[in-house]
Amino acid sequence: MLRTEADVLRTLRTGTYTLRDIYEEVAQTADIARDDGLAPPTPAHPTDAVWRRRVRNWLQHRKQQGAARRIDRARWVIDAPPERATVYLLVADGTIAGVEMRVSDAVALLENIDEPIDLVVCDPPYGLGRGTSDCSSQRVYATRDLATVVPGYIDVPAGDYEAFSNAWLKAAATAVRDGGQVAIVTGPQQAAVVQVAAQRAGLTFVSSIAAYKPFAKRTTRRFAFAHWTVTVMTRGPVNSRRRTFNIPADLPMARSGAAYPLDVWLDNGRADRAAGLLRYDNTLPQKLCRRVIVAHSNPGDLLCDPMAGGGGFAEAGLDTGRRMICADRNPSAIRYVAARLLGERLWPHTQPPGTGGRRRNLTRPADGQLDLLSEMPR
Ligand SMILES: C[S@@+](CC[C@H](N)C(=O)[O-])C[C@H]1O[C@@H](n2cnc3c(N)ncnc32)[C@H](O)[C@@H]1O
Repeated sequence: MLRTEADVLRTLRTGTYTLRDIYEEVAQTADIARDDGLAPPTPAHPTDAVWRRRVRNWLQHRKQQGAARRIDRARWVIDAPPERATVYLLVADGTIAGVEMRVSDAVALLENIDEPIDLVVCDPPYGLGRGTSDCSSQRVYATRDLATVVPGYIDVPAGDYEAFSNAWLKAAATAVRDGGQVAIVTGPQQAAVVQVAAQRAGLTFVSSIAAYKPFAKRTTRRFAFAHWTVTVMTRGPVNSRRRTFNIPADLPMARSGAAYPLDVWLDNGRADRAAGLLRYDNTLPQKLCRRVIVAHSNPGDLLCDPMAGGGGFAEAGLDTGRRMICADRNPSAIRYVAARLLGERLWPHTQPPGTGGRRRNLTRPADGQLDLLSEMPR
């Protein structure tokens, strides 16, 4: 269980490797005068042929030592420690667990995924002037025990929210396949901006779901904000047969002859973590994330959360068999999600990393559960 940042780092340091580590090792051990090896051996050019060959050789060497194992044509499980990973690819039981996390800007991520995305899920920052004196929720943040909150949350200045929404939704609209969808969770105040930005980007309206949010802040002169809005948009016509719609089993249904699903979701669970555990600001409840994912995608689909925060959607995607690519500009968020999914989900609860007990399957490829952290070309 993760209680502190130190737990995050300890979890990640175990059984992981970065591409930079590999380059450094290759630079120290490879015969770089061979072939066109006079080319500068710089990790700033990670895709050049010389480096690729060196890395391939290095991997073969690790394989012969029993320290690396090939999972499929392009993927390897390697045992070793990481430090500065910017991409986290989680592997369990010898197969990719389906969650990849990158320290990246949302637009950069969306522009660099080469497979069409089935569903983009996103819970963008609120743009309420967080960290400034005119932020109404400042008091709430001020009273939190900061030692248990992952640092580094990046908000968007209130005045930039529209331009910010236009930019990432334009990238999302290009990245989804025809019939693919974008589901955006916002407060009611931001929903209109997001819907207009999505329409401007060429997406078609599908749904606007009011999802009940418990513990609304008390108000006296207007109705308290007690729901998230989930705005769902699609690429192409709303009646396209390529668009996925599954009715989550636990949804409230209207009954007038036949049952049909409603866009008002009442019980969406709570985001609470046990007291004392490390948490991320504004993490969404699992039940809500699952409903959004199950309704708008199928197992095996490729999903992207370009502003993943504490990983609500990443976890729900992992649990429901989707392939997830997630990003956040906050490196602490990405490290936290990687460590949380590894330490609390993929590794046995009873033997968390760093406890000194025999950790089943962490660094022995033959045993199965492993993680590979790699620093990929950006
Ligand atoms: C509301 S939080 C997401 C919370 C998340 N859904 C969860 O369940 O924990 C928004 C996140 O967006 C990140 N962020 C802000 N601007 C970003 C950008 N341009 N690109 C990527 N991430 C960004 C913030 O650091 C923050 O972690």
